Amino acid sequence: MSNKTAHRGPIAHITEDPALVGHEKAISYFEDGCLLVENGRVIACDDWQRINPDNAEWAIINRENSLILPGFVDSHIHFAQTDIIGGYGRDLLHWLHKHAFPIEQKIGADQTYAADTAKFFVDELIRNGTTSALVFGTVHAHSADAVFQAALAKNMRLIAGKVLMNQNAPEELCEPMATGHAKTISLIEKWQNRGRLGYAVTPRFAPTSSFEQLKDAGTLLHEYPDVLLHTHLSENAGEIKLVAELFPGCKDYLEVYERAGLVGERSVFAHCIHLSDDERKRIARAGASIAFCPTSNLFLGSGLFDLSKARNCGINVGLGSDIGAGTSFSLLDTQLEAYKVGQLQETPLHPVEALYLATLGGARALHIEQKIGNFESGKEADFIVLDLGATELLARRTHNVTQIAELLFCLSVLGSKQAVAETWIAGKSAYKK
Ligand code: GUN
Ligand code: ZN
Repeated sequence: MSNKTAHRGPIAHITEDPALVGHEKAISYFEDGCLLVENGRVIACDDWQRINPDNAEWAIINRENSLILPGFVDSHIHFAQTDIIGGYGRDLLHWLHKHAFPIEQKIGADQTYAADTAKFFVDELIRNGTTSALVFGTVHAHSADAVFQAALAKNMRLIAGKVLMNQNAPEELCEPMATGHAKTISLIEKWQNRGRLGYAVTPRFAPTSSFEQLKDAGTLLHEYPDVLLHTHLSENAGEIKLVAELFPGCKDYLEVYERAGLVGERSVFAHCIHLSDDERKRIARAGASIAFCPTSNLFLGSGLFDLSKARNCGINVGLGSDIGAGTSFSLLDTQLEAYKVGQLQETPLHPVEALYLATLGGARALHIEQKIGNFESGKEADFIVLDLGATELLARRTHNVTQIAELLFCLSVLGSKQAVAETWIAGKSAYKK
């Protein structure tokens, strides 16, 4: 196919932060739109009639009864936990020991299994319309190699890291601090900025690292200022109690990370359900982001994330599936659960805000908003085509819907993975249902 392609059909994308400009102004919607893509980048996105590309120069693809959106950005996911989705259990700490640690040990013991899981994981992201993600590996360096290799083969913009752990976990998943440090450096040097990949320093969470290891992670961030910090924060009551016992000198959970030098603009904290107002203010001041993972929070009974409070104090938020405590790879499903979490707090999530979280908000959390997240000219052309006729019920429900907010909401309620008809990565077709 020509490297100059005009995609014609209904198109929507988030152009600004809805928390700043309101829902209506934050979204651009073209009922008969044109997304011009050349050499993997967006040249323009506008009404078809305003662009009206010359069909001698541009290969034109027409689509009907569909909606083109930017590819989804999953701000928090564990590739190694793909095969334990739906592991029956109690709360976070019980589930970690019963399901997460054993599968991570299997990834460690079997490199072929790790590579196979990583390949399936990347394919499943793409089948769900997710074109970028911030990914936890396991403590083993080959886990990070496996997910980077699989993403490189698809030319995905993906950020990942090997986990750092040196206490309070099975022996096979702990390693000396110096080993974790050395392996992290060699992975950064191997993968950072290779293809469209990036590295995240990934201490699992405060309980599984000594304070020395957390500080050492802070040193790594200082030495490599363009990598991210990716960890969990304030997810579950038992976890918070354990952190208070393990780090008695800190007034709250966030202070453990602050003292270690882990809280800055490039930090992404998953969950953040039980934060105090003061912790929220400090996260906002630092410019760090939160990954909101509603399917996981409901599955583990962790609690209800207060999105409004986080956004009102100026924190950037993205959406995370948190596979395998999360129950769906689909960020459409995840938007629906985020809406329900809002409903239970009398703050139902608006569909435009939901699309922000799943695209531009996620891109900002991952510090790749200059490259992806919407269809601004010059950005990389990662996009998806949703089929409004994917199921009989979706077709019937959307038949007379003309408002973009209502259409987006119907897709999050009824669409799921089956609505994803096509996924395009850097201007090339990566999946067609
Ligand atoms: N906190 C520490 N590790 C994990 C994990 O693997 N999943 C979730 N949901 N929370 C965590
Ligand atoms: Zn997680």
